[in-house]
Amino acid sequence: MSAHAAPTKRLTLGDLAAKKAAGERLVMVTAYDFPSAQIVEDAGVDLVLVGDSAAMTVLGYDSTVPVTVDEMLMLTKAVRRGLDRPLLVGDLPFGSYEASDAEAIETARRFVKEAGVDLVKIERGGTTVDRARALVSAGIPVVGHVGLTPQTATALGGYRAQGRTAEAALAVIDDALALQAAGVSLLVVEAVPSEVTAALMPLLDIPVIGIGAGADADGQVLVFHDLLGLYPGSAAKFVKRYADLRSAAVAGVEAYADEVREGVYPAPEHGYGMPEAEARRLGELLAERWDIDSRK
Ligand code: KIV
Repeated sequence: MSAHAAPTKRLTLGDLAAKKAAGERLVMVTAYDFPSAQIVEDAGVDLVLVGDSAAMTVLGYDSTVPVTVDEMLMLTKAVRRGLDRPLLVGDLPFGSYEASDAEAIETARRFVKEAGVDLVKIERGGTTVDRARALVSAGIPVVGHVGLTPQTATALGGYRAQGRTAEAALAVIDDALALQAAGVSLLVVEAVPSEVTAALMPLLDIPVIGIGAGADADGQVLVFHDLLGLYPGSAAKFVKRYADLRSAAVAGVEAYADEVREGVYPAPEHGYGMPEAEARRLGELLAERWDIDSRK
């Protein structure tokens, strides 16, 4: 038997289409660094998004808007190193793709070549539909994102559900159909009433991933820090917390701090030893050099 484990087969877009056809739900989650990538890999998810939510969850900005391409690339490369089987999606940050097709292709190529992503995600309908078409023509698979699009939340009236009137719902559906026609491989639908997703599903052939969009989508995505309870403060209505890692982490660091202050840590088993003869010889050397009697 070989000493090396067989490499895990990377999922393909064909695998996602087959899962959709079989009615198997797709699981997507965000990750932002090497350990979180390893965790979601081990949990067996299908898709990993290095979302620009990183701006808030790991970089401490108060929205997704300020994060730069270089910051996103550094995080995305770390995630790539921790992943094997799931498809990796890179999120193009605000201001890095909207101005022209050329800008979108240049930014997306950096994510593909430097960070090894399988797909790139861009937000909104409108002019983004042209950017999506250009990226697909350039051979770069694209994930669209409609409904609540956090990069342009201010223009949408804040972080709030979209498509809550019939006309607004139709606008979300039109954006989704235009993105599919432009050739996107996958669609994220965020914060829309369940009725909108239910209306959308029979109209689309591509897999749809929901977040705050009800249970009718082909799959779901959540932010790593939200689902594990790593993010302080209140989460969006659609977030379900599956763990409370922040409390566990604070308790762990507090216990460490207490033990350091009390002199309990480190205990002898956490230290290194020296052979007795070497310790004796060290004493002699100290005595010779500084005239110290080490036996005192
Ligand atoms: O940036 C992000 O994490 C996202 C998901 C919430 C879909 O766009």
